[in-house]
Amino acid sequence: MAKVLVVGGGGREHAIVHALSKSKKVNEIYAAPGNAGIAKLAMCVNIKDTEVDKIVEFAKAEAIDLVVVGPEASLSLGIIDRLEAENIKAFGPRKNAALIESSKNFAKDLMNKYNIPTARYETFENYDEAIEFVKISPFPTVIKYDGLAAGKGVVIAENFEEAEKALKDMLLDDKFGKGKVVIEEYLEGMEFSFMCFVDNDKVYPLEMAQDHKRAFDNDMGPNTGGMGAYSPLPFITEDDYNYALNEIMIPTAKALVNEDSPFKGVLYGGLMKTKKGIKVIEFNCRFGDPETEVVLPRLTSDIYDAFMAIVDGKEPLLTWDDNYAIGVVLASKGYPGDYKKGFVIENADTDDIYHMGTKVDENGNLVTNGGRVLFVVALAKTLEEANKLANERVSKIKCENLFHRTDIGAKAFRK
Ligand code: AMP
Ligand code: GLY
Repeated sequence: MAKVLVVGGGGREHAIVHALSKSKKVNEIYAAPGNAGIAKLAMCVNIKDTEVDKIVEFAKAEAIDLVVVGPEASLSLGIIDRLEAENIKAFGPRKNAALIESSKNFAKDLMNKYNIPTARYETFENYDEAIEFVKISPFPTVIKYDGLAAGKGVVIAENFEEAEKALKDMLLDDKFGKGKVVIEEYLEGMEFSFMCFVDNDKVYPLEMAQDHKRAFDNDMGPNTGGMGAYSPLPFITEDDYNYALNEIMIPTAKALVNEDSPFKGVLYGGLMKTKKGIKVIEFNCRFGDPETEVVLPRLTSDIYDAFMAIVDGKEPLLTWDDNYAIGVVLASKGYPGDYKKGFVIENADTDDIYHMGTKVDENGNLVTNGGRVLFVVALAKTLEEANKLANERVSKIKCENLFHRTDIGAKAFRK
């Protein structure tokens, strides 16, 4: 029987822990740091996901059989390299492969070199040169900070003033730290997330999902870390699927091998179906959040076996439930801007809820502890039914400081 440590403490990690808890091969699960929901299934240890030294020490001391790493921050710090150096099995990419997410410039140059379809772009370090470039760019134009910025480093500038402000923030005021920017062509179309298990040049697709980035119904309001998701995707045809796999995901895995940055773990393609074909918006080096929370509940094969297969260089078995999964995020009022924490949550103690940002306070109450707080999942034969079911479940949760979208998946079933 195996002991597994999951690094991270959001909805994604709750979904991973939940899937692991169904494996007959796993008898002990730890989470660092975990959250109040994860604590029902795993032992939570008080170590932050970025405290790499402490995580390595803990895994060694507890003789952990497998470490599964959720967040990009831990991966880009080189947590996998460190665990491997101690002969601890770990699922995720090494630091030099995690660059596909942690450096937009690395990802864009790789796509350019290997003809992987993406938006046209230029990279800038110098503010004045970037300004001259946007003066002759069509609007909207997309400005991306070249490093991890917790999903906040992308600005879609509608006019020169917005572009100027974004460039000033990123290049003169170092809002996210010292770094470069990528300025790229604005693309239009349906976005979707294609996560694949990757073992060097071998690619094993998971079922696709779609995130909902805007805060409010009908894609209104500011961009967020994701307000809901569903899986699978009716608008993806077989041709789309084959193109995304054969022209994007497999060539990217091969390109990484060729560049001496071989990838192991989950490669996440943030793709867009445009009028001119499918193109890459971004790559992530990890499971998507909240996509994972709708994809893993549909996995019917053993996730521990699949993780171990990738780590050991074997083919994983992946089988899926045909039902549609829809998940709705309950977020703190004010998110993605400022919000308050510590509001009591009632009626959230069911198996179909993943915790994203919760904790148990000193009085033993479950309270809000983040921007995104809970993720409610429902599975059904159709998307419409799953949406209805998810919204019914959401309406039973009592908390005065949460809001949510009611239209998750609706674009795919409303005519
Ligand atoms: P990213 O962090 O690269 O995923 O960007 C965040 C969001 O900005 C994406 O999910 C898209 O909605 C949007 N975005 C990024 N790049 C582009 C682009 N080239 N054209 C249109 N929208 C984009
Ligand atoms: N759902 C977007 C992400 O995981 O980056």
